[in-house]
Amino acid sequence: MGNFFPRWSNWVPLQIAVCLGFLVVGAVVGATYYFTPKYTRVGYEPTQPVPFSHKQHVGELGLDCRYCHSYIEQSSHANVPTNQTCYNCHGPDKAQVKKDSPKLEMVRNADKDGHPIQWTKVHKAPDYVYFNHSVHLARGVSCVSCHGQVNEMEVVKHAEPQSMGWCLDCHREPENKLRPLDQITNLNYKPEDLGREQFYKGLQDKGAKVEDLAQVILGDKKAESLPGDISGIVALAEKTYGPKVTQKEVGTQLKHNWRITPPEDCTACHR
Ligand code: HEC
Ligand code: HEC
Ligand code: HEC
Ligand code: HEC
Ligand code: HEC
Repeated sequence: MGNFFPRWSNWVPLQIAVCLGFLVVGAVVGATYYFTPKYTRVGYEPTQPVPFSHKQHVGELGLDCRYCHSYIEQSSHANVPTNQTCYNCHGPDKAQVKKDSPKLEMVRNADKDGHPIQWTKVHKAPDYVYFNHSVHLARGVSCVSCHGQVNEMEVVKHAEPQSMGWCLDCHREPENKLRPLDQITNLNYKPEDLGREQFYKGLQDKGAKVEDLAQVILGDKKAESLPGDISGIVALAEKTYGPKVTQKEVGTQLKHNWRITPPEDCTACHR
């Protein structure tokens, strides 16, 4: 028979074995990460150099997140404010808020010393993970879904696991979290506070067709006749979801109308 197969073919079984090996290792590592506790980081609450309270500044004073985290809608990375932002109220000049407070000493002196405050990071995605803040905000995901009720925290703590399984849970069913864009920094938002008619009118103004709105409400169900206008939509929604607007209602409409399809393939988050 002689050498029927070319010489290189001797290596084929080895190559197959090596490939299989990689696949198995990949699958095991992946599975371990997916199923291991999602909660390892939850509760991490480092002590900060200045006792800055979100509860006081957001919950009580009512400052919007973007007042301080000002690049969050433009940038892939969130920013922590510089001293200058604090100086709008706690500057060195006389007329300012709590100007003698010892708790603010480091803030007052930060510029003089040329030492910006070294805040300790709470959240950190590993370097091999690609994550973009602005994309999520532009698609109706709120800070609260990923950071918890920051407006009630004296000290920021890690409220959500931010593990791979956690990212994927939302990517598979984003309708559980989506909300109108003007509500992303309202951490106390509840869907039932939305006016139903206003919500559907808003979607219509942005180009949604009445028959599409109806189809999303009906899902797989069939109706004898489809509503022809927004008041018909409101009546159908009331029949389907009850008197109050629900998360399912808002989420499924936004997902459909904004064509939200969060990626689940490895290369989306590991580039
Ligand atoms: C007055 C300014 C100010 C406002 C308003 C503000 N923050 Fe912050 N934020 C800070 C400062 C300063 C830090 C860093 C110190 C700390 O962690 O408390 C911070 C840290 C954070 C962190 C942790 C960052 C990390 O290291 O992982 C999160 C999350 C956060 N803010 C979310 C929010 C959200 C959500 C809102 C709106 C509800 C908000 N912030 C409003 C000033 C502000
Ligand atoms: C829009 C105005 C405003 C901005 C901006 C602001 N603060 Fe405040 N801050 C206040 C007010 C008002 C109080 C509460 C004063 C009181 O309790 O009477 C306060 C209280 C504080 C206190 C507690 C002081 C004490 O003695 O109880 C700290 C610490 C503080 N701020 C840090 C910061 C830091 C750090 C920044 C910048 C990241 C910042 N603040 C930005 C208005 C502001
Ligand atoms: C979809 C989830 C998600 C949403 C929504 C989200 N964040 Fe984050 N945030 C993260 C993750 C993940 C990190 C860690 C990112 C990293 O290390 O690159 C983070 C980090 C941060 C940091 C730390 C940045 C730094 O470099 O120290 C701040 C501040 C922050 N987020 C504020 C906010 C605010 C304010 C909002 C709402 C306006 C918000 N985030 C919405 C997931 C989210
Ligand atoms: C609460 C829901 C939610 C969570 C949690 C979440 N995402 Fe997303 N993600 C979305 C939505 C919604 C989109 C937008 C999809 C679209 O535009 O069709 C998105 C889009 C993306 C995209 C594609 C857009 C881009 O930036 O290239 C990446 C990558 C991504 N997410 C990574 C992550 C990672 C990494 C985490 C975890 C650290 C995470 N996401 C957590 C909802 C979420
Ligand atoms: C939606 C974003 C997202 C997608 C899609 C995704 N990952 Fe991940 N992956 C993450 C995040 C976030 C982490 C970091 C988890 C942590 O820090 O706890 C991670 C961690 C990992 C790790 C652990 C690395 C280590 O430290 O050993 C492996 C392996 C991994 N991913 C493989 C995969 C594979 C294989 C796929 C495709 C089936 C995939 N990932 C899809 C977000 C994603």
